Amino acid sequence: EKGGYEHFMLKEIHEQPKAYRDTMLGRMNPEGTKVILPELKMTEEQIKNIKNVQIVACGTAYHAGLVGRNLIESLARIPVENDIASEYRYRSPIVTPETLVIVVSQSGETADTLAALREGHANGAHVLAITNVVGSSIAREADDVLVTLAGPEIAVASTKAYTSQIIAFALFALYLAEVRGTQSEKEIAHILAAMQSLPEQVESILEKKDDIKAYAEHISKHEHLFYLGRGVDYAVAQESSLKLKEISYIHSEAYAAGELKHGTLALIEEGVPVIALATQEAVLEKTVSNIKEVKARGGEVLAITHQEHVNDLLKSVDRVIAIPKTLPMLTPALSIVTTQLLAYYASLALGHDVDKPRNLAKSVTVE
Ligand code: F6R
Repeated sequence: EKGGYEHFMLKEIHEQPKAYRDTMLGRMNPEGTKVILPELKMTEEQIKNIKNVQIVACGTAYHAGLVGRNLIESLARIPVENDIASEYRYRSPIVTPETLVIVVSQSGETADTLAALREGHANGAHVLAITNVVGSSIAREADDVLVTLAGPEIAVASTKAYTSQIIAFALFALYLAEVRGTQSEKEIAHILAAMQSLPEQVESILEKKDDIKAYAEHISKHEHLFYLGRGVDYAVAQESSLKLKEISYIHSEAYAAGELKHGTLALIEEGVPVIALATQEAVLEKTVSNIKEVKARGGEVLAITHQEHVNDLLKSVDRVIAIPKTLPMLTPALSIVTTQLLAYYASLALGHDVDKPRNLAKSVTVE
């Protein structure tokens, strides 16, 4: 049942505040100073011995893993690699018993991701699955399971499963940090408090959906566009681009903002829409200089940033969408909501079947 929404995708976008709350529920102490994950079988000893992490998944789940990498590296200071499951399984990855393999899968049934899990096991690694389906093949075969509580996702384009995976990664990264002593209790409490504000902040983005709809109608007249970003903004750019392609069929590419001038800048001409994710203060100035390179070639730039940077950014861009303020590492949980809506309304404007895009299936159980 679509619960009064025109499409499952729109309903699922609106279910994100609940999905965040449910995924966090019961996973921190009442004081909000510690993450508790009693479901994990991994011992403290095993956690302290982890030498490297490999996050393996497909599509949107792979993109959640890119955000997960940033969370684990910055909070727990463990080196992390990301891999696409269909590549990982055939490239003889270097896995040891001190490797933690994390497979991420909404359905828990993706054939390549399941094969990646088995590859990890064959090399003696401990495998943790982040999945939305408790009884799935991946959940059954993994050594440990961290369930996302997004609820059933019907639309082919994944939304609430992706963001719940980010919440799960944040909890797990904090848990690693606690056990390994890489963050103080005060810092952990600060991050958990920021996480608990996310659901309400998503609500405030959803209230502004008419602005996003208007911009979506504008881009629906274009044949291709670009997403730019640095750090986790680049990870979000990749997911934003996939979302737009799969349901609106508008061609788009995601670029690390600093990489554009190494070739792709040649594609920027008068009126090409460029969506710049600019939420990371530490590199904001750098992103602004990349935006200027685009503007100088006639690109038409929309920036997604925090309210406090709007006036400044308006000096260099054509339009701005403001998102609420959170910690830099948590911004993907907010910024993606704007680009999910953008993809949704672009698809709607073009009259496509939003929930069942051509050529795609919800669960990919063949390789
Ligand atoms: C895109 C999308 C796909 C899936 C991918 C993996 O919106 O949904 O890219 O993310 O097929 O599926 P799961 O997470 O079920 O392994």
